Amino acid sequence: MKLARTTVTRLVEAARAAQVNAYAPYSRFQVGAAVLGADGRVFGGCNVENGSLGLTVCAERHAVAAAVVAGTRPVAVAIVTDRDYVGPCGACRQVLSEFDTAMPIVLVASDGGRPRTTTLERLLPGAFRFEPPKHGNRKR
Ligand code: THU
Repeated sequence: MKLARTTVTRLVEAARAAQVNAYAPYSRFQVGAAVLGADGRVFGGCNVENGSLGLTVCAERHAVAAAVVAGTRPVAVAIVTDRDYVGPCGACRQVLSEFDTAMPIVLVASDGGRPRTTTLERLLPGAFRFEPPKHGNRKR
């Protein structure tokens, strides 16, 4: 799917707005994400850290969850940090691939320069996909 320039702008603005609310007292690395829903709505997410560090949840996964809670499905995502063109972590790539293995991923420059759009296909080739076993083929 090719994103219109106006859609990229909407996603980047929503990701920036979400980044402001990031709760990152441990890493001090604030991340904002925005997911485009299949219905055209945009949903923000930010990282929410925890003193039990492994419980931290990334911005992208919060944005995905917000879209799903609102009854739609993610079709594109933008990610904003204070560094240039930071891509989603491996876990978030896998979570995004649940919905569309080819989805556009918009990466943003810290100085507000031109965003770059890549695809999940490029960032996570050969993603794991769970195919539920058919009835009756249980080994034990
Ligand atoms: N983080 C995200 O929110 N998204 C990513 O894709 C990479 C990492 C957050 C998690 C943690 O709060 C901080 O960035 C440093 O790892």
